[in-house]
Amino acid sequence: MSNQKQGSEAPTNDVEAQATTEANAEAEQVVVEEVRNATREEVDESSYWNQVYAESEDNSPGWNLGEANPEFPFRLANDKPEIAPGKALIVGCGYGHDALAFAQAGFDVTALDFAPMAIAGAKKSFEAAGASATFLQTSLFDLGRDHDGKYDYIVEHTCFCAIHPERRAEYAKLVARLLKPSGQLIGLFYHHGREGGPPWNVTPEEVRATFEPYFDVRTLTIAQHSVERREGKELWARFWRKA
Ligand SMILES: C[S@@+](CC[C@H](N)C(=O)[O-])C[C@H]1O[C@@H](n2cnc3c(N)ncnc32)[C@H](O)[C@@H]1O
Repeated sequence: MSNQKQGSEAPTNDVEAQATTEANAEAEQVVVEEVRNATREEVDESSYWNQVYAESEDNSPGWNLGEANPEFPFRLANDKPEIAPGKALIVGCGYGHDALAFAQAGFDVTALDFAPMAIAGAKKSFEAAGASATFLQTSLFDLGRDHDGKYDYIVEHTCFCAIHPERRAEYAKLVARLLKPSGQLIGLFYHHGREGGPPWNVTPEEVRATFEPYFDVRTLTIAQHSVERREGKELWARFWRKA
């Protein structure tokens, strides 16, 4: 496996090719997270996700890193002032590790997940850290129109890959609507190259096609600080909402 880190963001086309090659080559060599085979009806229900939390060893599903995705602390420290504190909605927040990193970096955080165990775990993480956030236990797709135009940032990490591919266009339109006119979608897309889902694979081309109707897709590049099992398979994204 290549541990090579890039000093700066490479041009998107090179990176896309590299991501594909590395993902394919490495899929055989590393311990990978389980890909389930679920239907749209199943993953649209919070009970499906709650059951995965409940039935996992120590209530810790394979996707739970136990810490923020390392790309976030890196970007929060290094991408100032472009990523500066503001109002951030962390979608599919799970146990809230990413949300906590944003809160501790001075963001006004809203952490959303529809699985009761996820929200309970996220609240616990915040309590333990003495941090505060607004917690929403609801489906992203059921958010009220009072959230329209409210956020400076939508933070994505393993929520998009948990949503059935048929709903991707709906997701893109929705998160654009939730952002302020100058708002950004920032985060990570999972390009693992395997069949089935969740997590459902997405290619850089699919990410572009999905988001370009609503966003200026300025950055889509291999994440530089993925955990080992996801190295070369996470795409770091920063998209600006189109006016
Ligand atoms: C793969 S997990 C990732 C959790 C977290 N981002 C992490 O990395 O640990 C996907 C999360 O998204 C939540 N989720 C899936 N679909 C959702 C929806 N429509 N609305 C809100 N949350 C959703 C699930 O409950 C689950 O906690």
